[in-house]
Amino acid sequence: MHHFEARRGELHCEAVPLRRIAETVGTPAYVYSHATLSHHYRVFDEAFSGMPHLICYSMKANSNGSVIRTFTNLGSGVDIVSAGELSRALAAGAPPSKIVYSGVGKHIWEIEEALRCGILMFNVESREELETIDSVAGRMRKRAPISIRVNPDVDPKTHPYISTGLKKNKFGIHIGQAMRDYEWAARRKNIEVVGVDCHIGSQLTEISPFVDAAERVRLLVEKLLRKGMPIRLVDIGGGLGITYNDELPPHPKQYADAVVRAFSGLAVTLVLEPGRVLVGNAGILLTRVLYTKDAPATAGKGKKRFLIVDAAMNDLARPSLYGSYHAVVPVGRAPEKRALTDVVGPVCESGDFLAKDRRLPLYRSGDLLAVMSAGAYGFSMSSNYNSRPRAAEVMISGRRFEVVREREGPRDLSKGERTATFLLGRGKKRGRIL
Ligand code: LLP
Repeated sequence: MHHFEARRGELHCEAVPLRRIAETVGTPAYVYSHATLSHHYRVFDEAFSGMPHLICYSMKANSNGSVIRTFTNLGSGVDIVSAGELSRALAAGAPPSKIVYSGVGKHIWEIEEALRCGILMFNVESREELETIDSVAGRMRKRAPISIRVNPDVDPKTHPYISTGLKKNKFGIHIGQAMRDYEWAARRKNIEVVGVDCHIGSQLTEISPFVDAAERVRLLVEKLLRKGMPIRLVDIGGGLGITYNDELPPHPKQYADAVVRAFSGLAVTLVLEPGRVLVGNAGILLTRVLYTKDAPATAGKGKKRFLIVDAAMNDLARPSLYGSYHAVVPVGRAPEKRALTDVVGPVCESGDFLAKDRRLPLYRSGDLLAVMSAGAYGFSMSSNYNSRPRAAEVMISGRRFEVVREREGPRDLSKGERTATFLLGRGKKRGRIL
């Protein structure tokens, strides 16, 4: 469900015509619907009402402060993977007591910052990390609340780059080895064992991998409880998929029912780390056609039309990186006639495309298009490749719209950069000699 729809031939986000945004803010621009974000959060939250739970929005999906604040205002916590995310989460109103910290490579200074502000728990991904957290906490005279991220060896049946719960993946500690590390952790005075964590992958469109993982995690939780470990949090990560094209992912309610059933009767609080399901369909990438051109027919395929738009792989990496599908729809009325089309950006790579081999209307230069379902892993994965300033981000609520991140300018592109003095011919005194 989302609030992007055509009214009288013009695509709107809530009550605002997207054309108006293109005219005032320019393109490319990410546009987010506040009503969709809030609705998704509420539906997800209500789905878990049968069990004590805490939603920790996985902010890597979209780290814009106004997006995070939309959720923290509704009571959400945040799932972070770096100290950078920690500071942005705090700035967006997340209470430290609702922050969980995942990730395979936590730096010592990052662990220190998280301990200093008193987060809910570290999701620990290796024995060495556990030992590091123990010694950092010891030095700071603190107790670090931890859960071990277990790898349940379940195939999430999604794109290999976003599968995380298989033995061959770098994530977590194999579920069969976790007990040893829990026992070690329980003996450390600077570690407080509080939970078990698991995340098997992203964009899952079936329920069974979640259930398989939850059943394995439950067995471990029961074993830990029998050994007297005070497990009170069970974090089952994120990963619920959304519809980009014709996928039929389970509704949050179905997902929640299955998860709640798997842990029923246990006196624990469920921690959930949804990202994509909250933000994916709440955002679009607004872009304008710069040029069109027709390529001659190739063997096996007919003629191909290229729409060269002003958004590129640096703005939305998903199609190039994973071959992901994003619907491309017109902002105004579209011509009836269609042709086999690639929607491509200005970046100098053949892999720079937003859509490939689609039968699209014969758009013309100047037309505005919306690349749908771009709210998750869109802006947050964008870059300055080809020295392209990152796009503006806009949030809509009803009739109001606000720029929630300015479009970058030329200064942002060389921020922090210096010309080596020896290149300027007067650098004898400055610069370091190693
Ligand atoms: N928790 C952990 C530990 C994660 O690693 C992730 C995502 C999530 C939660 C949130 O998962 P979600 O609910 O969004 O599926 N860039 C890729 C997705 C990478 C997912 C990384 N981890 C994409 O564009 O599809």
